[in-house]
Amino acid sequence: MRAEDFIVSKTDAKGRIIYCNPIFIEFSGYTEQELLRKQHNIVRHPDMPRTAFKLAWDTIQAGNDFFAYVKNMSKDGSYYWVFAHMSPDIGANGQPVGYTSVRRCPQDHALDYIKPLYAQILAAERAAGGRNALEAGFQVLQDHLAKEGKSYEELVLTI
Ligand SMILES: Cc1cc2nc3c(=O)[nH]c(=O)nc-3n(C[C@H](O)[C@H](O)[C@H](O)COP(=O)(O)O)c2cc1C
Repeated sequence: MRAEDFIVSKTDAKGRIIYCNPIFIEFSGYTEQELLRKQHNIVRHPDMPRTAFKLAWDTIQAGNDFFAYVKNMSKDGSYYWVFAHMSPDIGANGQPVGYTSVRRCPQDHALDYIKPLYAQILAAERAAGGRNALEAGFQVLQDHLAKEGKSYEELVLTI
């Protein structure tokens, strides 16, 4: 990403894309028609641990904001790292009616920190496999946070 870029998308409550800005379209390599109404995992990169998305969905569905470093995959198979802020769009009944994500250019030192951590989480998920993958991934994350003495949010906002 370029320092001045913001990659923006909005989804409905089920995570289907309902809006994306021109920079999203540019980085994804898809046309707007190919993106709209698709699940947001259309840009999922296989290097991303499932644990990260589980934590994201649990947080935003509970009505809270979530921050994460995310490696995304373009249509041609290339990738781009983002620092994502995801937030729920709260409806009149107090429940999320959709979600918005604004992504900015991550700093190199943050990626140097997060890449080996994600690799460790992913390895634990793969070793555990199937149903046990998330539990194993969360364990690696919890152990890391305990070692650092930080909450997830503290860590992600300070690296
Ligand atoms: C507003 C919003 C933005 C999202 N942005 C991304 C994104 O940039 N990249 C991504 O891989 N998943 C993103 N997701 C998460 C996906 O919905 C999905 O959970 C994730 O790609 C994992 O897909 P899977 O569960 O099919 O493995 C976003 C979800 C929401 C609600």
